[in-house]
Amino acid sequence: MQFRSIAISVVAVASMAAAQLTVTTPSAANWWVAKSTNVLQWSCKADNVPQTFTVLIGNQNPAVLVQPLAIIAIQNNYDCSVLITQDQANQAAGTGYEVLLANPINNTDVYARSEAFEIKPLGSLYPTQQAEQVASASAAAASASTTAASSSTKKGNSAAGLGASLVLAAAGVVGGVLAVL
Ligand SMILES: *[C@@H]1O[C@H](CO)[C@@H](O)[C@H](O)[C@H]1NC(C)=O
Repeated sequence: MQFRSIAISVVAVASMAAAQLTVTTPSAANWWVAKSTNVLQWSCKADNVPQTFTVLIGNQNPAVLVQPLAIIAIQNNYDCSVLITQDQANQAAGTGYEVLLANPINNTDVYARSEAFEIKPLGSLYPTQQAEQVASASAAAASASTTAASSSTKKGNSAAGLGASLVLAAAGVVGGVLAVL
């Protein structure tokens, strides 16, 4: 009897922790653009967030996507945001998309689900605030790169290489947005 109630409260705490992780971009107001590099951002500083998760993209309409597709197998929470390239997610323009952050060993155990968002056709403008978010994602990528570089002496060069390519990708996005403006 006592064991049973302890087990139930552990489950309750686990699901509360999961509820605190949220996807902040994309959202209904912050769409993605097809065939472009897009920002994914989440509440990495929330309490008790998982250290790693799998990032998936799904669609509320099974005719668009039968089931969510993994776009990043293992994402570290501490990165706080990443740039999703068209090689990682190459979905057609449309509505009803959602990004899922899930347990890496069980993708149906979803920690957080974004609002439904639109992927607009290539060439569409991002919302005005998107430029600022890209800039802050770029800063986050730069600081992730610094972190990766400072830990690269221990981990080898691959982490630094990834950081550097994130910065290059970020610079590309900022450049693209400026060119559009
Ligand atoms: C995966 O997660 C789902 C949802 O939390 C759960 O129902 C299912 O039992 C889990 N599967 C395994 C193999 O643990």
